[in-house]
Amino acid sequence: MKYSDSDVRHSDLLKFVEEMKGVCTPDDVYWCDGSPEEYRDLCDQLVDKGTFIRLHPEKWPNSFAAFSDPSDVARVEDRTYICSRRKEDAGPTNNWVDPREMKAHLKEMFRGSMRGRTMYVIPFCMGPIGSPISKIGVQITDSAYVVVNMHIMTRMGKAVINALGTDGDYIKCLHSVGAPLEPGQADVPWPCNPTTKYIVHYPEDRSIASYGSGYGGNALLGKKCLALRIASVMAKEEGWLAEHMLILGVEDPKGRKTYVAAAFPSACGKTNFAMLIPPREIEGWKVTTVGDDIAWIKPGKDGRLYAINPEYGYFGVAPGTNMKTNPNAMQALSRNAIFTNVGVTDDGDIWWEGMSKEPPAAIRNWQGQRHDPSSGKPVAHPNARFTAPAAQCPSIDPDWEKPSGVPISAFIFGGRRSSTIPLVYQAFNWNYGVYMASTMGSETTAAAFGEIGKVRRDPFAMLPFCGYHMADYFNHWLQFGRNLSRAPRIFGVNWFRKDENGQFLWPGFGDNMRILKWIVERSRGEANAIESPIGWMPRYEDIDWSGSSYQDEDYERIMEVDREAWKTEIMAHEELFARMYDRLPKEYFFMRELLLSSLWRSPEHWYLEAETH
Ligand code: GTP
Ligand code: SPV
Ligand code: MN
Repeated sequence: MKYSDSDVRHSDLLKFVEEMKGVCTPDDVYWCDGSPEEYRDLCDQLVDKGTFIRLHPEKWPNSFAAFSDPSDVARVEDRTYICSRRKEDAGPTNNWVDPREMKAHLKEMFRGSMRGRTMYVIPFCMGPIGSPISKIGVQITDSAYVVVNMHIMTRMGKAVINALGTDGDYIKCLHSVGAPLEPGQADVPWPCNPTTKYIVHYPEDRSIASYGSGYGGNALLGKKCLALRIASVMAKEEGWLAEHMLILGVEDPKGRKTYVAAAFPSACGKTNFAMLIPPREIEGWKVTTVGDDIAWIKPGKDGRLYAINPEYGYFGVAPGTNMKTNPNAMQALSRNAIFTNVGVTDDGDIWWEGMSKEPPAAIRNWQGQRHDPSSGKPVAHPNARFTAPAAQCPSIDPDWEKPSGVPISAFIFGGRRSSTIPLVYQAFNWNYGVYMASTMGSETTAAAFGEIGKVRRDPFAMLPFCGYHMADYFNHWLQFGRNLSRAPRIFGVNWFRKDENGQFLWPGFGDNMRILKWIVERSRGEANAIESPIGWMPRYEDIDWSGSSYQDEDYERIMEVDREAWKTEIMAHEELFARMYDRLPKEYFFMRELLLSSLWRSPEHWYLEAETH
């Protein structure tokens, strides 16, 4: 231990730690310094305990794999609570319990919860230390796995204690895996509470308490809990945005740089899009990565929006990631990485579905059993993830840690929709774009829960992450736009449209550059579009098809705005609106009507006859 509480001069923080020690009764308290030695020592301990498997030192240098408990493999939305003082403030899309009641209940849950374990104190900073946009948190946890993941995902340790000084603001984050040990009781490789989980946010207190899970967004409290749920509340009050968005830069052949931010729901391609490699034939165009999951966005004095990535690493979906779909991610995770719930071979190699055609022989699946191809069970869990340092990504943007952020020229919204939603379209204006993002839907996959293939409305990809009433969030976006003199343009995309045989109509991945290029040019006022009933759309000839064999007919199919399907779609918006009628912006009712009426507009073949603008 490099320092202890005797080096900490922040009396409120010392009091918090002392109090939590009293409640959770750990065997000892460890203040994390964030050093490489600390990371190494904790990884060694995790190997000794059987939580970590050390991977092959040449194939996967300084990397580890962990198998979680089968009850602890993803975020638990039904166990996630926004405990605002008033129920109305959490809104109809969040679980709510009176904060006094929840606190009383959780106090009992946390009482003695760290018995037999070490309580780690992790001072961490979301965003570059010293940036005016950054926020500091302190997470108390009894999981060394969480500590090493936080080493990768956040800036943490002594430097943050120094930044906090004697009285700096911080967000209190309490976490326990909820598995105390009796004297002499042997630990398990993945301690958690298989039956009781709580992910709780107190927006007014700006504090977080998480119990029973050691996995991802449930346990790495800087990510979804702080950087989205608590930050979204702060953002509303302070006039900024905390969003479930990637941030990328596009450089054109003249060296001009344009940044865009894009919101897609969980497991819908943010990491892939953020690290996109353009097709070779689109010469001179380059994509750089600022962030792959979260964006904090503030208005600048020049009337533009500036965004930072509050994170320091990637917690990305492993299955489907390979040298073709995402070579940048493969490089980023090639060393100093942690893999959770992937398959592991006896010689310390790893594999997941989609990494290559066939799994290596003699591989254990994510439950540690010998993989049996005839069982139909996958090798990796569908939500298996890698934790990797952002700085290792070859496409990392030179300004990714710029304290003032990067200027955003466009917002892109997209879900997983097998029908109805075209490949790309541009909102007529800010309000319309906000409506479009609010009514966004996505089809559930095996990774998300719910019925597979059902469209779930996921406004702004924020449904599981908004820390307050969703309709107030819509109002915030509308109000935010009113104050911007140079507001970003807003676009919708859908990489996932399918034909009648269930085949994707769009190649996706690198080819998404063709669409991104049009979006960038359009934001600069340099590309053509025609007016469709649902927004501005590029014609076939407005897209760069260099090196592609994609045909005009293919394009017409993927861009089709089917009137009947759209009427049904617009009716489905009603379902969402009905849940939050009392606070819904009045504009929404008018926009819905306008959208409906434009579907009746002639000519029938708007696409063929329209003028460009
Ligand atoms: P979270 O980390 O959960 O917030 O998700 P994410 O949006 O970063 O998800 P990620 O990029 O890891 O998405 C993974 C899934 O999207 C995989 O199933 C990919 O195969 C799929 N995917 C990504 N890009 C494309 C694309 O352009 N086309 C198609 N068809 N699938 C894609
Ligand atoms: C998501 O579910 O959107 C994630 C993964 O990015 S987790 O951090 O586990 O929430
Ligand atoms: Mn996410």
